[in-house]
Amino acid sequence: MIVLGLETSCDETGAAIYDSERGLLSHALHSQIDIHAEFGGVVPELASRDHIRKCIPMIESVLQQAKLTKRNIDAIAYTGGPGLQGALLVGAAVARSLAFGLNIPALAVHHMEGHLLAPMLEEPAPEFPFLALLVSGGHTQLVQVESVGHYNLLGESLDDAVGEAFDKTAKLLDLPYPGGPELARLAEQGQVGRFKFPRPMTDRPGLDFSFSGLKTFAMNTISKECQAITDNQQKQQCRADIARAFEEAVVATMVIKCRRALEQTNLQRLVVAGGVSANQRLRQHLTELMLSRSGTAYYPRPLFCTDNGAMIAYAGCLRLMAGEQQDLGFSTRARWPMTELTSINAVELK
Ligand code: KG4
Ligand code: ZN
Repeated sequence: MIVLGLETSCDETGAAIYDSERGLLSHALHSQIDIHAEFGGVVPELASRDHIRKCIPMIESVLQQAKLTKRNIDAIAYTGGPGLQGALLVGAAVARSLAFGLNIPALAVHHMEGHLLAPMLEEPAPEFPFLALLVSGGHTQLVQVESVGHYNLLGESLDDAVGEAFDKTAKLLDLPYPGGPELARLAEQGQVGRFKFPRPMTDRPGLDFSFSGLKTFAMNTISKECQAITDNQQKQQCRADIARAFEEAVVATMVIKCRRALEQTNLQRLVVAGGVSANQRLRQHLTELMLSRSGTAYYPRPLFCTDNGAMIAYAGCLRLMAGEQQDLGFSTRARWPMTELTSINAVELK
């Protein structure tokens, strides 16, 4: 089965072609960073308009890369939620209309399921069951994954998602949007141990997270330690030291919670996905955690950590091959708990 995947849930337009026989044939990604940068964050209306401009050319581009035409596509998978309502509607309308015109099925894919399954596009792919740590701009979740669609939510953030905490703290440090990778870059120049940030909610049992306090801690530390400094170089070092302490605290918190969840579930495989899984320090520490437990950590390639069309094409292909279908009417869901998904008997794909 050849599936076209379309991702438009936030500030990236992604398209990809996945073939159940031959694997991923092509993918393309367009980031809207330039459009939103001057506003310091995503402007939903501008995001929707840009998706309108990009969807069709990107579909044409992935078809051309894969040396296929529209007529070769067997089905279309698009992100149905969660995400920005307007942005989701663009992808849904394009996918549904094209599918109607070609007389093929279209399927709404859950964005976080896309992230969760993205490491399966890599070699070696993780086998079920596994523990998943989903870390993106909108979600922070620990999920026990038995099979495709069989998800047991073990813990999640009670306030800011971890990517959101990165972005907000980056803004406090005067870093440009998108903040997460910028903060990680600044942290590289930071001195370890100059500041010590709390590890929220690690002193009590449970697997939930809370990150909004870290952002406040960063704000207070900036105003107490950096603001009065007049020497530019010293000020820059102070900001870098804070970025480093913030990142260390986030990573240490994740490691503690993952270890706890692994002990609770007795699982040996950890899958880390979503935008923040691109963070090198997080990857390094979680890989060490798994090595110390004789287990294995799995990640998507850096390009597929953040939003992309390949993960939607792949997740969609699994569900379509399992016989999942939707009628012509469609709606998008800005909020959509992943635990509402149905479990499927997925076939082995390439
Ligand atoms: O998965 P994603 O592309 O979009 C959502 O589904 O939300 O994740 C985007 C998030 C942003 O908050 C971004 O700052 C963060 O992932 N991010 C990072 C890094 N790369 C992206 N955070 C920390 N370190 C990174 N290297
Ligand atoms: Zn995402």
